[in-house]
Amino acid sequence: MVEESINKKWYWWPLFPLYPYGNKKTILRELIPDQIWSLEQIQGLYYVAVPIRMTVIKVDDGLMLVNPLPPTKELVNELEKLIAIHGKVKTIVLPTASGLEHKIGLPALSRIFQGADIWLCPGQWSFPINLPLDFLGIPSKRTRILFEEGTPHKDYFEWFSLGPLDLGLGRYQEVSFFHHATRTLHVTDSIVGIDSTPPEIFNFDPTPLLFHSRDRGDEPLIDSVDQRKKGWARLVLFSSFLKPGKLNIPSLIEIFKHSFKKDLRNWRSHFGIYPFVWDEDWESSLAEIMGENIPKIQVAPVLQNLIFPRSKKVLIGWLEKIKTFKNMEYLISAHYSAPVKFTEQDCQNLINEINSEKWNKLSDNNKFLINFYEKLLKLGIIPNI
Ligand SMILES: [Fe+2]
Repeated sequence: MVEESINKKWYWWPLFPLYPYGNKKTILRELIPDQIWSLEQIQGLYYVAVPIRMTVIKVDDGLMLVNPLPPTKELVNELEKLIAIHGKVKTIVLPTASGLEHKIGLPALSRIFQGADIWLCPGQWSFPINLPLDFLGIPSKRTRILFEEGTPHKDYFEWFSLGPLDLGLGRYQEVSFFHHATRTLHVTDSIVGIDSTPPEIFNFDPTPLLFHSRDRGDEPLIDSVDQRKKGWARLVLFSSFLKPGKLNIPSLIEIFKHSFKKDLRNWRSHFGIYPFVWDEDWESSLAEIMGENIPKIQVAPVLQNLIFPRSKKVLIGWLEKIKTFKNMEYLISAHYSAPVKFTEQDCQNLINEINSEKWNKLSDNNKFLINFYEKLLKLGIIPNI
């Protein structure tokens, strides 16, 4: 019954406006000197505004972009700085079949860099019907499908795939690769390293962090190092579990009781609407996903719950492949910390975790997603094989 009422209240959330509206900040960071850079933006809903990364890698006489981002003026300007030194954009890679947040920037980005070849993960799908590439704004003439039509820059990278896995509505697949020169492993969503320091991009506008650092909607947004950290921790819990175990959704009456007060009638404080109540010991649930100063390396919790419960074998096979890369040093993913120290031993640790009892006995944080998964299974949306 309790679960049922939570699910109903869930429908209310999409009423929150999209963040950060039309005003996307982009930052450029150098990840590996003279070889790999990261362009980062914030994407998502206000209550789960998470940073997202496009990786830029030096290839012969030019650059390869991985995981496209919407090309705002600022993003293109930052990219131009790299192009001036390292050469033009030669290749754009969309290495995921399912991660919508990585696809939306591709049409506009490919229009700006008209000379670039485009490579796609196989099995691109759009819901509810499958549309041809040109219809989606992706120029088919210079687009190729990874593996089916080869792979780009073979001397630099070894390309391999996680999946495909049948999700009923479409498929989960991401193409990963190892960059020999820098000994870096590149993934999109599957493995992440999370630590407690808020990402640099929030320095330009910490509002999403401060929004979440409160306990009630009528509290003002106060900016301090501790409040930013607290807000970041909660944002990570949201984006990892959709509804973390230590979070409760109050009744509408309770929410509006604290809303629309005098100083809160503005967008920044969301008119005092804050539809969450955290348990007092909410911080105890952080240990499983967040490292204090060193990023905690993990299979992304959302995928662990929704995609991998039945696909342990595929996941382990993929990790075994990663272990074979000689002298692997770093992981670069499309979300959270990068680069993260990542060696053969770290990879083995993940395999051990997946094989352990703990993997099957998930904590309270996972309950919402596990229930959601079971419902999809019951409804036949996820095939029961
Ligand atoms: Fe993603």
